[in-house]
Amino acid sequence: MKKYDVLIIGAGIAGLYAAMQLPKSKKVLVVCKDIPWECNTFYAQGGMVTALNEADIAVHVEDTMAAGAYHNSQEAVEILSRTSLTTTPDIIERGMAFDKDEAGALLYTKEAAHSVERILHAGGDATGRYMHYFMMVQNTHQLQRNTLVYDLLIENGRCYGVKAMVNYEPTTIYAEDVIIASGGVGSLYAYNTNSRTVSADIHGICVEKGIALADMEFMQFHPTVFVDTPFARKLLLTEALRGEGAHVIGEQGNRFLFEYDERGELASRDIVARGIFDYMRKSGERAYLDFSMFDTVWFEQRFPNITRTFEALGYHFPQDRVAISPAFHYANGGIKCDTHGSISGMEGLYVIGEAACTGVHGANRLASNSLLEGVVFAKRAVDHLLGKAVEKERNIPTFERDYGNILHKEKDKIYKQKLRKIMWDDIGIIRTTKGLHEAKNFIYDMKNREIGRLLQLRLNTASAIVDAALGRKESLGSHYIESD
Ligand code: SIN
Repeated sequence: MKKYDVLIIGAGIAGLYAAMQLPKSKKVLVVCKDIPWECNTFYAQGGMVTALNEADIAVHVEDTMAAGAYHNSQEAVEILSRTSLTTTPDIIERGMAFDKDEAGALLYTKEAAHSVERILHAGGDATGRYMHYFMMVQNTHQLQRNTLVYDLLIENGRCYGVKAMVNYEPTTIYAEDVIIASGGVGSLYAYNTNSRTVSADIHGICVEKGIALADMEFMQFHPTVFVDTPFARKLLLTEALRGEGAHVIGEQGNRFLFEYDERGELASRDIVARGIFDYMRKSGERAYLDFSMFDTVWFEQRFPNITRTFEALGYHFPQDRVAISPAFHYANGGIKCDTHGSISGMEGLYVIGEAACTGVHGANRLASNSLLEGVVFAKRAVDHLLGKAVEKERNIPTFERDYGNILHKEKDKIYKQKLRKIMWDDIGIIRTTKGLHEAKNFIYDMKNREIGRLLQLRLNTASAIVDAALGRKESLGSHYIESD
């Protein structure tokens, strides 16, 4: 029987940075569902927050807590900010090239709800892509693609490994420790900015195994997304655009966001997303992002990725305005864990990155805190894992049940699309109790149909979101409930 010391599920920033912390003497396997760059990290544009210095920690903590409606775990936020003073230099020393000015000084940008410029970026607006590439190159452990995890091997409060489809073959992978770094739940929503691989499967397995999810009512919607494409992943227009001065306007060029918050375009993400959604709903107009104030050469250098992507769609930035809509972006909630990624009552299982809920984001994540979260909590989980006493021999139970041949059923695709619409309409940006009950009934009904394992797992997660939303009667952060 082949057994690893550590199995990491997911090859985004959290999974890869965890792998980078593990010594070569450990037998480590990193797995990803598809190709490694099909992950949310790859599509992250804006940047990675870092505390600028000791004095900025208190300011960064306050910005994060204010954006999170003070629902955050202050301990987790302080750890996030303080640890950045060591993890950011570590990444830079290892060779990560963040953007610099001509004199060689690091360039920092600002995004909504940050009081100062403290966001590092790379390749202009391709930070995630650059960081992902850097970490792929740094990783010295085995990385296996086409590995779709469909079960966690859990007995008596211990995880022994996973069952996964590896190149279409049901396979059991045993490990002393499993680190979940599988990302969030984006594919549950009709409009989302996430990689197609991010589909809530592992959250769904956790629900099945009685592992708690937390803060699932706090789903985050990015305010400025181009949704007029046929593809599931919609095109993000980074917050950094507004941070640099882009405007959100109505059809007549009116900057309507000031009707919702005095900070206008720079209010926190939940407020801006809701403002745009509400304005479009009430006025029947579309909303646009306007960059016409920017110099063409500067724009192309600062946002090369966006310039090229939209050029291919016929846009000429910065002169053309572009229609926007909010879209699902990030799960503030996730698999409940402590600040070492440990899951209460469970040995041999850690969770990090977007999949995790340490409480760091509270009710609404502060822009660009997620790449930092991936790094900081990956390091802490690995430090904890390496600090444990290793048990020499362990009897591994037999896990006979295998869902490998029932992952998909004939009508799953149709049901999946219906679920995505329900999630968007009823468990989206503005919710009503009536809509949430309708969604709950719909999910319950679908669960009792002839469906495959993977859809069942999605539905488990969808249930957790709707139940959490029904449980919170008052609006808070990204959970906004309107009277019926
Ligand atoms: C963006 O670039 O707007 C996304 C950054 C984030 O999600 O924090």
